[in-house]
Parts: sequence; C-alpha cells; structure tokens
Amino acid sequence: MTARVLITDPIAADGVQVLEQHLQVDTRIGLKGQELLDALPDYDALIVRSETRVTADVIRAGTKLQIIGRAGVGVDNIDVNAATERGIVVVNAPTGNTISAAELAFGLMLSMARNIPQAHGSLKQGQWRRNEFVGVELRGKTLGVVGLGRVGSELARRAATFEMKILAYDPFISEAHAHNLGAEIGTLEEVLRRSDFISVHTPLTDATKSLLGPAELALCKPGVRFINAARGGIIDEQALLDAVESGHVGGAAVDVFTKEPIDPANPLLKSDKIIVTPHLGASTEEAQTNVAVDVAEEVVAVLQGRAARYAVNLPRVTAETMKATGPYMPVSDICGNVVTQL
Ligand code: NAD
Ligand code: MLT
Repeated sequence: MTARVLITDPIAADGVQVLEQHLQVDTRIGLKGQELLDALPDYDALIVRSETRVTADVIRAGTKLQIIGRAGVGVDNIDVNAATERGIVVVNAPTGNTISAAELAFGLMLSMARNIPQAHGSLKQGQWRRNEFVGVELRGKTLGVVGLGRVGSELARRAATFEMKILAYDPFISEAHAHNLGAEIGTLEEVLRRSDFISVHTPLTDATKSLLGPAELALCKPGVRFINAARGGIIDEQALLDAVESGHVGGAAVDVFTKEPIDPANPLLKSDKIIVTPHLGASTEEAQTNVAVDVAEEVVAVLQGRAARYAVNLPRVTAETMKATGPYMPVSDICGNVVTQL
C-alpha cells in the first residue's frame, strides 16, 4: 500500500511534487487540536513548518508515524525527545534557508543603522525630517555574533565585506572555523562589552532561552544595537524594551517573537527604536523551494527504507534502525552529557 504523508503547514509546490511521485499526500493547512489527533493515526509521515506544535500528545496519536519532517531549521516546535522515545525519525532542512536568513539579518542591521523603516514611514506621511534620521556607518564597527553556525557564519562573511570587525561567542565551534571567517572568538561577556552591534544565531534551547536578559544587557556598550532573526526569547523581550527606553541600548531589529503570530501586547511593538518583521528570515522564493524539496526527499528516503541525511535525533539512520535504537537514545544522551562534563 502507498505510504501516506500529512502536511499541516504551507510548503512550496516543488516539495509537494516530489512527495506526490512516491506517496499519497494530504495537505490540511492549519490542522490542530483534536482534529490533528484524530487524523494522525492514518499517516506514515507528518510535514510541518514552525506553526504546527508537534507535542508529545500529537506524537502519541501518530501510531503509524515513521518520520516527522520540518521544512526549515528550528525544531523547537517539535517534541524531539517524545519522537525519539517512540522510534520516530525527526528530520529538518538545515541548509536551504541559511542564505535567506543571513541576508535578512544583514538587511535588518543596515536598516537599523540608517533608520530606513522609520524614515520611510515618516516620508510616506508627507514629512521631510532629515535631521531626525541621522544614522551610523557599519564600517569599523564591531559585530558580535552569538552562535557562529550556518546563519551566523554567513552573516559574519557579509559583514566582513562591509569592513566590520567580527567577534563571535560560540562554545561549540573551533578556533579554525572562526579564523577562516576572519572572526575573533570571545567569551559572551567580551562580546557584550565590546560590540557595537550584536546578532544572535543560536537555536532556542533551555540554555539559550533569555541568554541575554537584564544583567547581560547592562554589560553592553552604551548605544549597542541588537538583531534577533533566530528565535524569540533568546533576548528577553521586556529587558530589551527597558534597555532601549532607558537609552542604554540604541536600537533593535527583531524578526522572531516568543509568541507567534505576535501578541499585540508584545513589548517589542512599543518603541520606534525597535524595528520588526513578521518572521521573514526564510521567506524567499529560493529558501522555500529549497527547504520543501529537501524535506520531501528526506521523507521519501526514510519511508523507502533509506537513511536520512538530516536526522535531528540520530545521524544517518533508516526508519527500521530508528525503531530499534530510539528507545535507548535518552540513555546515550545522558551518557554523552556526562562525558562532555567530565
Ligand atoms: P546552526 O545549528 O547552524 O547554528 C547554531 C549555532 O549556535 C551553532 O554553531 C551552535 O554551536 C551555537 N550555539 C548553540 N548553543 C549556544 C549557546 N548556548 N551559546 C552560543 N552559541 C550556541 O543553526 P542555523 O541554521 O545557523 O540557525 C540559527 C538560528 O536561526 C536557529 O535558531 C534557527 O531556527 C534560526 N533561523 C531563523 C530563521 C528565520 O526565519 N528567522 C531562518 C533560519 C534559521
Ligand atoms: C527556520 O527555523 O527554518 C525558520 O525559522 C524559518 C521558518 O520556519 O519559517
């Protein structure tokens, strides 16, 4: 019988076409709550972006599920541990939207430095207020990059061509990687104290939630400007607003929020010095096609018994292997953490 895949968030048509060549595809955008739980037992695969919350309950309901695909990078909307315990492979599409996300972060940095959104809004209202929108150059400034992974590295590359100095904090990368990008490695405190712009590019985990809160913002250079195109809450939202309103932080540019779609009461909407976009980092034609095709190919491969390239909960395993080894993963995870600490 042909395996069945359920898609609950919009993905590009090219990805759907790949799936349709091999599987029975049902697209039910926005399916959630009891309706999602009721539908899942019929499916071998589930594909989402960031909107569908794939909780432990959802995973339990997917009694036939072999694979959950995320058309994008962040898997913070998926309970990966619950999937692992049930032997379900979770895959993402980690490379397809890197350039788009880095370009958005760079665009936000330039927009903020030159007050472009504020000037645009003012001029559209018929006002000619040149003196109010005096900005700063990027040249010669220090860009602090927190998280020098795929997106952080591409941002660093672009910033270097604008003659910025790059100072990075990332406890998990090698000096050689930073060196190749022309970046200096520092502690988080050094990045905070020395940077003129700080852009965060970590995943959202227990360790990075509120990584930058009131105490960290207080350490920064007066006038520092922040960019967050990674995940809402890595920079504490209320602390950021307070620091902008006090004048200690010169501005911020934010693409991602703790609650999405955004709560109208979100503190970041309250200041003109904070520019915002509605989670547009991966919203380009290229990125959407890339991630949809990548995740579709992964799902087809795993359902055909081949290994996944981008398994989040095990490197290159078949669904069959995952069924057998998945239940032991939490133990090996703990052992790995102990070894790392030792
Ligand atoms: P990545 O895994 O390649 O890079 C993340 C980096 O963060 C890694 O180098 C890792 O070592 C580092 N890191 C992890 N924990 C850290 C910590 N506590 N302190 C400092 N560094 C830490 O991921 P990526 O593809 O570069 O994506 C980065 C972030 O951007 C993710 O949160 C992703 O979901 C998000 N993203 C957002 C958009 C968007 O639409 N706005 C698009 C793409 C990616
Ligand atoms: C991602 O993690 O890939 C991004 O946030 C993009 C998205 O899902 O829209």
